[in-house]
Amino acid sequence: MMTVVANGEQQVGTLAAAEVASALAKQPAAAIGVATGSSPLSLYRSLANLVRAGRLDMSGRTAFALDEYVGLPPEHPESYHSVIARNVTRPLRLVPENVHVPTGTTQDLAAAARAYEQAVRSFPTRVQIIGIGSNGHIGFNEPGSQRSSQTRVVALSDETRAANSRFFPDLATVPTHAVTQGISTILHASTIVLVAHGATKAAAIAAALEGAESEAVPASLLQSHHDVRVFLDRAAAQRLRNHSPHTIPNRPPSNPKAEQR
Ligand code: F6R
Repeated sequence: MMTVVANGEQQVGTLAAAEVASALAKQPAAAIGVATGSSPLSLYRSLANLVRAGRLDMSGRTAFALDEYVGLPPEHPESYHSVIARNVTRPLRLVPENVHVPTGTTQDLAAAARAYEQAVRSFPTRVQIIGIGSNGHIGFNEPGSQRSSQTRVVALSDETRAANSRFFPDLATVPTHAVTQGISTILHASTIVLVAHGATKAAAIAAALEGAESEAVPASLLQSHHDVRVFLDRAAAQRLRNHSPHTIPNRPPSNPKAEQR
C-alpha cells in the first residue's frame, strides 16, 4: 500500500489525479471506477484540468459508479446518476452511454444488481477511485459487510445517513437503502486509489491502514489488495502511528511522481 500525505484537499486531488492518469495510461483497456461524495471532488477537478489541457483522453473509457440510493429517481439532483453526470461524465468528457450507475429504481433490484456486477467484472482491469466513510465503509459496504460481498441492496447505517444528510433538506429525506458494489467487487479492481481529507476521517484511516484486517472495518480489507494507493491530507493522516507515509513538503513538488514511493 502506498500512502502519500499532502498539504490539504487540493493537493490530495492533484497528486491522486496524476496517479489515476498514470495508472490509466499503463492500462489502456481499463475501466474507471468512480465514487461520489466530497472526497474525490478535487481529484475530479484535477483530472478535468488534464482533459482540458489535452493530457488525458477519457473519451474511450467506460466508467462504473460504486453505488446509488434506492428510491431516488435518476433525475433527482442528489441521485448518484445526477452527481456522476455533474462531477465526472461532463467534466471528464466521458461518453454518457459509457458511464454506468447502478439502478435504484427498478422493480427487481436484486436482478439489476447481479447484472451490474457482471458488467463491472467484464473488464479484467479497472482503476477504482474510492473514498472512505468515517465508520470505515467503502462504497456503501457498512461495518460487518462480508469480504465476499458483491453488488447488492444494503441498509445505510444511521451514521452514514447523518453524514449524507448535508445533501438533503433533512435527515428524514435521506434514503434508507442503497445499491452498492460489494467488497469483493471493489477488490476485483486492478488499481485502487483511495482519497480522504479532514479530521473526521482520521480514526477510520488509522483503523483501515494500521488496524487488523476485519469485516468490522471494511476499508481494512483493502490491506489484502496488491495495488492500493492512498492520498490523505495531514488531518486525515493525524492518527497514523506505525505507517511511514511519504509526507509531501509544503511547496508543491514540481514533479509529484518523483516524490512518491
Ligand atoms: C460514495 C461512496 C462512499 C463515500 C464515503 C465518503 O460513492 O461510496 O463510500 O466515498 O461515504 O463520503 P465523503 O467523501 O462525502 O466524505
